[in-house]
Amino acid sequence: QHIPEVEALLKKMTLEEKIGQLNLLTPGGGVATGSVVSKNVEEKIKAGNVGGLFGVTGPDKIRQAQEIAVKNTRLGIPLLIGSDIIHGYKTTFPIPLGLSSSWDMELIEKTAQIAAKEATADGINWNFSPMVDIARDPRWGRISEGAGEDPYLGSAIAKAMVTGYQQQDLTEENTMISTVKHFALYGASEGGRDYNTTDMSRVKMFNEYLPPYKAAIDAGAESVMSSFNDVDGVPASGNKWLLTDLLREQWGFEGFVVSDYTSVNEMIAHGLGDLQAVSALSINAGLDMDMVGEGFLTTLKKSVDEGKVSEATITNACRRILEAKYKLGLFEDPYKYSDSKRPERDILTAANKEVAREAARKSFVLLKNENKTLPLAKTAKIALVGPLANNKNNMLGTWAPTGDPQLSTPILEGLKNVAPNAEISYAKGANISNDSAFAKKINVFGPRIEISEATPEALLAEALANAKTADVVVAVVGEASEMSGESSSRTDITIPESQKTLIQELVKTGKPVVLVLMSGRPLDITEELALPVSILQVWHPGIEAGNAVADVLFGDHNPSGKLTASWPQNVGQIPVYHSMKTTGRPAPSTEFQKFKSQYLDAVNAPALAFGYGLSYTTFEYSNLKLSSKSIGQNEDVTVMVDVTNTGAYDGEEVVQLYLHDVVRSITPPMRTLKGFHKVFIKKGETKTVTLTLKAEDLKFYNGSLEFISEPGEFEVFVGGDSNAALKETFTLN
Ligand code: IFM
Repeated sequence: QHIPEVEALLKKMTLEEKIGQLNLLTPGGGVATGSVVSKNVEEKIKAGNVGGLFGVTGPDKIRQAQEIAVKNTRLGIPLLIGSDIIHGYKTTFPIPLGLSSSWDMELIEKTAQIAAKEATADGINWNFSPMVDIARDPRWGRISEGAGEDPYLGSAIAKAMVTGYQQQDLTEENTMISTVKHFALYGASEGGRDYNTTDMSRVKMFNEYLPPYKAAIDAGAESVMSSFNDVDGVPASGNKWLLTDLLREQWGFEGFVVSDYTSVNEMIAHGLGDLQAVSALSINAGLDMDMVGEGFLTTLKKSVDEGKVSEATITNACRRILEAKYKLGLFEDPYKYSDSKRPERDILTAANKEVAREAARKSFVLLKNENKTLPLAKTAKIALVGPLANNKNNMLGTWAPTGDPQLSTPILEGLKNVAPNAEISYAKGANISNDSAFAKKINVFGPRIEISEATPEALLAEALANAKTADVVVAVVGEASEMSGESSSRTDITIPESQKTLIQELVKTGKPVVLVLMSGRPLDITEELALPVSILQVWHPGIEAGNAVADVLFGDHNPSGKLTASWPQNVGQIPVYHSMKTTGRPAPSTEFQKFKSQYLDAVNAPALAFGYGLSYTTFEYSNLKLSSKSIGQNEDVTVMVDVTNTGAYDGEEVVQLYLHDVVRSITPPMRTLKGFHKVFIKKGETKTVTLTLKAEDLKFYNGSLEFISEPGEFEVFVGGDSNAALKETFTLN
């Protein structure tokens, strides 16, 4: 169904004007993630050569930009104004991997809604989020930007975020277009090296990697960003199977597709031809808008003249971009996101910051609570140490280009806010890394790793002296924010050596040690798990970091986060995830047996399983019941379980349901997540939790890529992580 106003406009447009709409520029001045920044942007807008901008913010600047477009061009077409707002605008929420660990869809939707309200107040109408790439390789730095390893959870989060950004009505002043990215399979880059090639079977794609993109599109995402990697040997931006056959024809996507930053031009380096050729390939494949590279702008007219691209193809791409502008209401009022009163009213409000604090608390995962050291008494004598303990520069986490690290609350300040009667001494104790060459790579966007003038020995001595006189040591350690994110892959995912030494020496003092661990990825903490320490994983918590960490350390909030990606024993085990296949030679879980599928030097299980996370209380599961032991095709199964809070604190638990299809025509995963419910249970109380296994949850893509379920036995596991032991079975007839 075309929009009549857009059709009328298209009729008036020249070929050049249509091509101009396909051009997305960034004038620079902000954070650029490629080597190219657009030049002569104003002149290009005036010449009708620009469809949208990104990296420009503020209602006044946006008004100016729109004025240039509306008043100086023949047809006065307003601009799309894009931005990367992946975990909050100025009110920065935890990194997406952290947010996903809350398993709280309402909360996640609320964070996206707040991000939309703040961003639109600052002039933005189009967001490059959510990033829904399934990631099972923690070496890949961008695992931080997504929801982890699982397509079921990833789909739920994709839907929550799109709904949060777009709401019901894009013409509202506080909603913006959502872009699902990076289409597709970007998270499966070989070896976890960013921008690397991907290769995978269709069966794996459809069952394990594509569902979250599809969920975002079904939720109404108006735009899709193509990824840097190749799929079946063709880079995504020029991949017709991906952008047309699958996205538009099979999935019915009607919005527009934008490339990633210069990803059309990068097809030259991929080895697919010169700019003329790759631009034609991309538009013919179904790409509508070219980000920064200007290949479309500079080559498409010639390709049309030579008959290599049809004018109809260009008209279609232009139509999709104009339709997006129309849906936003920009034709009616190009200045609807240029109200200079809004920033003050809508950005960084106390209410927004309260949600940031709540989101951070809920993202934390308690990995270990040695001798129940946590929660701490608010009157305790605490030695607070570690390079991330009194640090603003790393609290927001990666890819928070619109946030201001200086507005974040460091951990030291948060502890003082929440427990003014605690006696807190602070010492840095160690640098994040002592390696200045490494620090230089990390500090591209600002001073994330600062190497002290004091020697490592002096730093350590000060921390140990404080520790010796304290009741408890809290060490805030881990990765600097830019040690994860784009172009931040690591082959060694342990805590940097300088901090390992600090941790080991602190343990030797004999004092209880709590590690507050920050990272943008699952780490290899096998050594630390073996030490007598407690570990609270806090990711990069966002603007309210210190307050949220203090809320949890002192027990005002009981942690309930659960891991959304498995933490490996070591990098050699990667990929390790909960839905692995049994293989024909399944290994026993404990001892080694020759000729089984396992390693000589490690077990198959990860160090920390998907879905894992402790609480200050304990939960017991019992009475697992199914509504039926035998069902027909298209019937649902209701799953009921009693969950009892058996500990000393009220708390929330993420009840998880895993399914194992015992026999099917393609090898089934050992178990795979098919339901979850977060429930609050008071201490001593029991709640019956009901989950529904829908007929669709039993389906999978078979060898012919048909989405079907096959008759036979199914095993249902319910519990607090992916090792859930309670089991029931039913038969699908
Ligand atoms: O949206 C991002 C993308 O995730 C990575 N490359 C740059 C884009 C625009 O900033």
